[in-house]
Amino acid sequence: MSAIITVENLNKTFNTKDGAFQAIRDVSLEIEEGAIYGIIGMSGAGKSTLVRCLNYLEKPTSGTVTVEDKDLASLSERELRQLRSSIGMIFQNFNLLMQKSVLANIMFPLSIAGASKAKAKKRAKELLEIVGLPDKVHAYPAQLSGGQRQRVAIARALATNPKILLCDEATSALDPQTTESILQLLKKINREMGVTIVIITHQMSVIREICTDVAIIEKGELVEHGLVEEIFEHPKSKAAKRLIIEGKDPDEWEKKNGEIGNDADGYIPLDLLKEHRRIRIVFTTNSSYEPVIANMILKFKTPVNILKADTKNIGGTARGEMILGLPDDLALQHQIIDYLKERNLEVEEVEEDA
Ligand SMILES: Nc1ncnc2c1ncn2[C@@H]1O[C@H](COP(=O)(O)OP(=O)(O)O)[C@@H](O)[C@H]1O
Ligand SMILES: [Mg+2]
Repeated sequence: MSAIITVENLNKTFNTKDGAFQAIRDVSLEIEEGAIYGIIGMSGAGKSTLVRCLNYLEKPTSGTVTVEDKDLASLSERELRQLRSSIGMIFQNFNLLMQKSVLANIMFPLSIAGASKAKAKKRAKELLEIVGLPDKVHAYPAQLSGGQRQRVAIARALATNPKILLCDEATSALDPQTTESILQLLKKINREMGVTIVIITHQMSVIREICTDVAIIEKGELVEHGLVEEIFEHPKSKAAKRLIIEGKDPDEWEKKNGEIGNDADGYIPLDLLKEHRRIRIVFTTNSSYEPVIANMILKFKTPVNILKADTKNIGGTARGEMILGLPDDLALQHQIIDYLKERNLEVEEVEEDA
């Protein structure tokens, strides 16, 4: 067994309005190939930040992340994108494209990777078999249950044959029975496809159910890690004892400490977003009074993803800003941008890391 992911002395500091905030403090860990590695901690502990550092969606402030013997700091943006396609990711909120069919959702990463339509379709259908939804090819996400949506998200994450699957609170929005069935599916994927799985959770039951290894993280620090059975038998840290011996239900912490940090407010994973052109548009008092986005979609007859909207309805028109993901067609992108500018919206390109 050798480590497929190695994290050494990782630190991540965010600059916030209130000054610097250190979300990850000197974390080191090794994830063996073939493991189902759990990372547990309460809300705000830094789990999502840590997992996002594993594929450099978040760049560490210091320390190294090595994936399959590659130091991520040494990779170009292009190489990073390539690496990210060998790391699948799923989230609590599934992040499916709601206006696309199940099949189209799964084909999406394949099309980005340059697969032909026929090939992508064939692979997407195979994946739907694997996740147990062969009859949902033409369904839309809105027609599916939470568990089914997560299955589609898993299929999409597996489309490019990743060796690693990162799961950030993937079962947190599901009822216990559905959680169980998703965990069984992850186990099968680990066993039959040899995918190394990293599971971020605030639920000890998830760790107990399928993980081989566990790391406990508290206030950005790794307080204990090891084989699940050993930690369950001899928890050493206060945090581990609290979790295991006292059997504290993290959901109770959550009630006390607020909601689980939710990184899933983008509608599709960031690594996919980065392949596309994104623009930020600002509605000001000078902006047109028509429903601009709706009219734009009607005019260009193309779906535009609203990736983020922070608008208020004032006197029947939008004020505030939105981030849009534009279609791939360059000419169309220009037409759309001109269209928006003509209507007195401020339009600017969104940087890669925005
Ligand atoms: N982009 C960011 N800017 C500033 N603070 C952040 C950012 N992302 C996360 N944090 C802060 O870092 C801490 C850890 O967040 P997160 O990794 O989401 O925790 P968890 O997933 O364990 O709930 C939280 O206090 C959160 O507010
Ligand atoms: Mg989180």
